[in-house]
Amino acid sequence: MKIAPSILSADMLNLGADVQKVEDAGAEYLHIDIMDGNFVPNLSFGANVVKALRPQSKMVFDVHLMVNNPENWVEDFIKAGADIVGVHYEATPHIHRALDLIKKNNAKAEVVINPGTPVSAIESVLSIVDQVLVMTVDPGFGGQKFIPETLEKIRQLHQIKEERNLNFDIEVDGGINEETVKLCRETGATVAVAGSYVFNSGNETHAERINKLRN
Ligand code: DX5
Ligand code: ZN
Repeated sequence: MKIAPSILSADMLNLGADVQKVEDAGAEYLHIDIMDGNFVPNLSFGANVVKALRPQSKMVFDVHLMVNNPENWVEDFIKAGADIVGVHYEATPHIHRALDLIKKNNAKAEVVINPGTPVSAIESVLSIVDQVLVMTVDPGFGGQKFIPETLEKIRQLHQIKEERNLNFDIEVDGGINEETVKLCRETGATVAVAGSYVFNSGNETHAERINKLRN
């Protein structure tokens, strides 16, 4: 299981230090949530934040675009340093075009589905993506509760992978903690995003929380 801490819950006054901590703890990906106040009811970061962090870190930058018409933003974020770019199936009428654009710009292409969207909606793009993100909460905010009905979709995706001999990663995002990560791993998830569990770690360190997710 690869671990992808989400900086949405990091300490914004000490963002660089928080990123360093999770990299030192062995996190493989850094998950960067981009929100436009339109596709989701919240605002977060722009490409300038990705650009500022890029020279500091060797982690894979996993950029989750929660924006309408993501194809308008793909190139900016790849130029800024994104390694993986995720676009929501629900955010564009042209999902193939959006994914193609990511690949043409030499980044890894990820398709994302909300909890209410079935796996069947993305069947026709599964052979061209590097990663599928199954949202385990409705996107927009950190600290929400894991929706258990999404597990069935992870199971379906895992089965399709085996049947068709595909090798995309299956990522989960939202409400991930030491208990829910286990359920996701058992059903076939290969990458776990965690925001509040890692960065609002209470008496424990960020590294301890990352280790708990991994084991
Ligand atoms: C939610 C974001 C998540 C968020 C997860 O819209 O896509 O990446 O940071 O936060 P937690 O892990 O606190 O649910
Ligand atoms: Zn996210």
